[in-house]
Amino acid sequence: MWPGPYGDWGSRKYLMASLHQSLKRMKLDYVDIFYHHRPDPNTPLEETMVALRDIVHQGKACYVGLSNYPPDLAQKAAALLRAMGTPCLIHQPKYSMLVRTPEEGLLDVLQAEGIGAIAFSPLAQGLLTNKYLGGIPADSRASKEHFLKSDMITAELMEKIDRLNNLAIQRGQTLAQMAIAWLLKDERVSSVLVGARNSEQLVDSLKALDRLDFTADELALIDAILKYN
Ligand SMILES: NC(=O)c1ccc[n+]([C@@H]2O[C@H](COP(=O)([O-])OP(=O)(O)OC[C@H]3O[C@@H](n4cnc5c(N)ncnc54)[C@H](OP(=O)(O)O)[C@@H]3O)[C@@H](O)[C@H]2O)c1
Repeated sequence: MWPGPYGDWGSRKYLMASLHQSLKRMKLDYVDIFYHHRPDPNTPLEETMVALRDIVHQGKACYVGLSNYPPDLAQKAAALLRAMGTPCLIHQPKYSMLVRTPEEGLLDVLQAEGIGAIAFSPLAQGLLTNKYLGGIPADSRASKEHFLKSDMITAELMEKIDRLNNLAIQRGQTLAQMAIAWLLKDERVSSVLVGARNSEQLVDSLKALDRLDFTADELALIDAILKYN
């Protein structure tokens, strides 16, 4: 992204230029998946999808992905891409125990269209871990006020996190592992895009795979703690 009318969003000019710059920076000939970051209200959807199709045809990406598209636009974009012979492979929504928006239609659209979901911010940027239960640690994201603001660490939220943490301990997991397993329990979720500040966090998160199953009671308790239903 860069300043100016073609430095962001979904025009053909922006998509082509940003991919070329990324390939140059990464010293690669092509990427496996090229995601369109978010829908552009000022560019026809057709222009964006044709540009994605052309990027695949040029051999600069193997597959097309979308991110942050609401259900109706995701469906329209999927139909356009499929008609052009470059089906959308994967959709990247923000999804976690604390952000349930994809359950309000998007996951159903993805299932119907045969598109996988890869959840970004699965740990709600670190909120879905035990790190804030004793206050805000000095090296944490909230301490840097970068993306995660310290005023999001409220007593009400920490009470829920504490209860979720207790459930995770009963399951023999860390809360981070349970938060990831909770996403992967849904067959519509192909993968999760975890962030990690260091290798210890990544190793911890990967151990989520050791316990992916949930009982119906556990799922109901999680919803009750989050007051989701
Ligand atoms: N498509 C989009 O619009 C979009 C938007 C945002 C992000 N993304 C992608 O999604 C990726 C992940 O997003 P995210 O970084 O917000 O994900 P996240 O996994 O929700 O949060 C990562 C943060 O959680 C903490 N953490 C990670 N593993 C931990 C563990 N095992 N125990 C304790 N704390 C742990 C760390 O915070 P501390 O630094 O505080 O320790 C880490 O920086 C990004 O790298 C980006 O590629 C996509």
